[in-house]
Amino acid sequence: MSQCQNEPCATESPVVWHRPTPSNEAIASLVQDGRVHSRIYTDQSIFDLEMERIFHRSWIYIGHESEVPRAGDFQARRMGRTPVLMVRGRDAQVRELINSCRHRGATLVETESGNTKMLRCWYHGWVYDLTGALREVTEPGGYGPDFKPEEMGLTQVPRVASHRGFLFASLQPEGESLAEFLGGAASQFDMLVDASPTGEIFLDAGFNKTEYLGNWKLVGMDGYHPNFVHASVVAGWARNSESGIGSMHREDPFSDAALTLTRDYGHGHAMLDFRAQRLKSYSKHAAFLAKVPGGEKYVEDMHKAYGKDRAEMLISLSGDPHLGLFPNLQLIGNQVRIIVPIAPGVTQVLMSMVRFGGVSDEINTMRVRQHESFYGPAGSGSPDDAEIFERVQRGMQAEFNPWIEISRGMHREYIDTDGSVVGRITDEVPQRGQMKYWLQLMTNSAA
Ligand code: FES
Ligand SMILES: [Fe+2]
Repeated sequence: MSQCQNEPCATESPVVWHRPTPSNEAIASLVQDGRVHSRIYTDQSIFDLEMERIFHRSWIYIGHESEVPRAGDFQARRMGRTPVLMVRGRDAQVRELINSCRHRGATLVETESGNTKMLRCWYHGWVYDLTGALREVTEPGGYGPDFKPEEMGLTQVPRVASHRGFLFASLQPEGESLAEFLGGAASQFDMLVDASPTGEIFLDAGFNKTEYLGNWKLVGMDGYHPNFVHASVVAGWARNSESGIGSMHREDPFSDAALTLTRDYGHGHAMLDFRAQRLKSYSKHAAFLAKVPGGEKYVEDMHKAYGKDRAEMLISLSGDPHLGLFPNLQLIGNQVRIIVPIAPGVTQVLMSMVRFGGVSDEINTMRVRQHESFYGPAGSGSPDDAEIFERVQRGMQAEFNPWIEISRGMHREYIDTDGSVVGRITDEVPQRGQMKYWLQLMTNSAA
């Protein structure tokens, strides 16, 4: 008799399930109005299903085109459990190839990034070109006439699309377009890319990586925690309000009295909306920039490129839309961040500082230092976030009354003219938006 109580089971599917797959009804019971069950963060069978129904079906952020500027440049990434390569070919096209040899499955690339003329498998020496086509088979005479090398190229990820240089891919051959998936969140990419007067950004500074013992969904948009988890940092900003970051935080942005908002764009995409609050401090921020070599020219060039109103908005926001794009991308601070789920209680976060085109080296250097100061390995912010995520994961092991409260602001949220759901900065609008879409994907009920 089969051990599987639910489909698919190991005998019927290439996917090996270690536990019964939860039914849609069981999953739906874990997400209720204003609260969710902690099992969605801790359970192995839920995690397995997330890999299949979210990471192997949805649009997943792979990388930015500036990470592979030359022919032969590659970056090794993951789509859930699937290892993929983002490779630029000699034809300048960037492709997403599955990083698994068509012979017996070895990964072609083990380093995180590099440049190569070809992709040679280390196991038996098959060679693929940069498009993934199989070019050489060791001792080819060992294969009969039915073996067709032209059909044995590396598997291409079925769908690839980009938005303003950000490359996304989907392992599902058909489905909604990237534009439909991004929806209203698409415009927020402009707040990052157009913070360069030439509309160019470069992710060429490498990554700093954090691994924490907590679930991947904990890395959310949360405007309720900074005054506690980051209390010492926030106090430092207040004391040093002439600093770059300080000039953006002259008034407490994390209180209900602030102009800051939470915003849910649907599809699990959410942001902490600092626009109005930071625009209020525009003149002080511009005065700070004037002290940085190249700062005055930057302000001038931004006004020429975008006109006064938009330039002031872009300069105030400093390329930080504070957008979380479900499930694995965040545009926060001076960085692009990739969330990599490893296991229910293990997550990697990759953070890459964004360099602006068309600005002085000093402005970009300042951006690196700002990034390091909060998000770097010895920074004052990110390590505290990782610590609190681990505490949450440990606390969620409690099996008695295991409900997580995400109701804050439900009574006062409203729908904006662009269709997004809006709340105060401390409200749990992002958490509810994320869980709503999570439930749709996990129960196969997404449009
Ligand atoms: S597994 Fe790649 S050549 Fe054998
Ligand atoms: Fe934080």
